[in-house]
Amino acid sequence: MGMNVTEVTDGIFRLSANAEPNSLLFEGIWPIPNGVSMNSYIVKGEKVAIVDGVCGWDGVPETLFEQFDQMGIKAEDIDYVIVNHHEPDHSGWLEDFKKIRDDFQIITSVKGEPLLEAFYEITNDVRTVKTGDSLDLGDGRVLAFADIPNVHWPETMATFDTKSGTLMPCDAFGSFGAISDAPYDDQLSREEIDFFEHEAVRYYSNIVAAFCLPVKKAIKAVEELPVKIIAPGHGIVWRKDPWKIVNDYKRYASYDKNPAKEEVTVLWGSMYGMTEKAVKPLVEAIEAEGVKVHVHRLPESPLGDVLTSAWTSTGIVMGMPTYEYKMFPPMFAALDELAKKKVKNRKAFRFGSYGWSGGAQKELDELMAKHKTGWDFLETVEFKGAPGKEDIELIRQRGTELAREVKRMVAEAPAIA
Ligand SMILES: Cc1cc2nc3c(=O)[nH]c(=O)nc-3n(C[C@H](O)[C@H](O)[C@H](O)COP(=O)(O)O)c2cc1C
Ligand SMILES: [Fe+2]
Ligand SMILES: [Fe+2]
Repeated sequence: MGMNVTEVTDGIFRLSANAEPNSLLFEGIWPIPNGVSMNSYIVKGEKVAIVDGVCGWDGVPETLFEQFDQMGIKAEDIDYVIVNHHEPDHSGWLEDFKKIRDDFQIITSVKGEPLLEAFYEITNDVRTVKTGDSLDLGDGRVLAFADIPNVHWPETMATFDTKSGTLMPCDAFGSFGAISDAPYDDQLSREEIDFFEHEAVRYYSNIVAAFCLPVKKAIKAVEELPVKIIAPGHGIVWRKDPWKIVNDYKRYASYDKNPAKEEVTVLWGSMYGMTEKAVKPLVEAIEAEGVKVHVHRLPESPLGDVLTSAWTSTGIVMGMPTYEYKMFPPMFAALDELAKKKVKNRKAFRFGSYGWSGGAQKELDELMAKHKTGWDFLETVEFKGAPGKEDIELIRQRGTELAREVKRMVAEAPAIA
């Protein structure tokens, strides 16, 4: 992991470390094909505060301390450690920091305080803050705090520098994607911004999706602040156009309900190729309507990729056989996770093969009912063994119908942002 220091604006510095592509599974589950950055911010008034840290993977704390030199500060100069969020990707470095220093004050939310003790046995010199509280660093630099619960944990808050209009919201407005030496939106090309937009969807769908309502509340709170810069805990800093990432998040937060984009996700799994025979005709029928299709074979496709596609898809198609009187197991796992991440109200269709009794459909219906997904299904097409010509034709027709329905829903949806 490399670490680099840059100046966000007068008196605020960004320290960042990358986890390189595929170097780990984020949260122990989610692949990061393009890596991820962890960002920390130093704010200098007469006193100095560090806002969040970067996690201790691969010896980062040592690198972090080296970087203090570049800014002309020492670990001893830090008066306040502001912990916006206690997930160890941001707070893990405290473990090492307290070996070097034991006389700094921690600023955190009311719900953050018990987590400090639970994770790091820190009980000394903790000041709790809530929305409306502030911290004067001197030299005209006053930090204001706002609770943004459940973006991502219950204790999460955001720190706002009133002098420069810089918002440090930790996980909110973050994205995946390791970052080279150009961490600011004003340094990036259109293509690079598009790359981070896709990485933001991956991040949102994998990490934050279960908390759409809290995200909407956090956005409302942010809209009331005179924000000029958004400096999140993951991803690039938005200096030229801070409202772009806010508006992107507004759209992502609306995709739990549907419609999302004019896209369809096709999930399929097959043991001996019977169900598979219908996949290509189905995909062709959807594409013939000009609708974008994401195809994932299960279990080969990681759940993180499935979620990323499903989040922006208005339609979802499932091709799967019956397996031991139930759904093909990896399909069950994927749908269960989509439901838990609150992928709601999709336009949906299922097809698949069985040998003698079937059973997949029953379990699918039960799963959808249990999670109250609100998915609106076209009539299922099931076939014994290999699909006949008529089955393929029916599946094609359903693909066309689904695609047209998706286009209609998206066209009729009110614009979000
Ligand atoms: C391990 C296994 C379990 C199966 N269990 C059932 C079952 O409970 N009920 C049923 O109707 N068919 C069952 N089948 C038959 C499959 O559903 C059938 O072979 C189907 O054509 C498989 O489609 P695929 O090649 O797309 O996987 C089972 C097949 C296998 C290999
Ligand atoms: Fe988090
Ligand atoms: Fe995080």
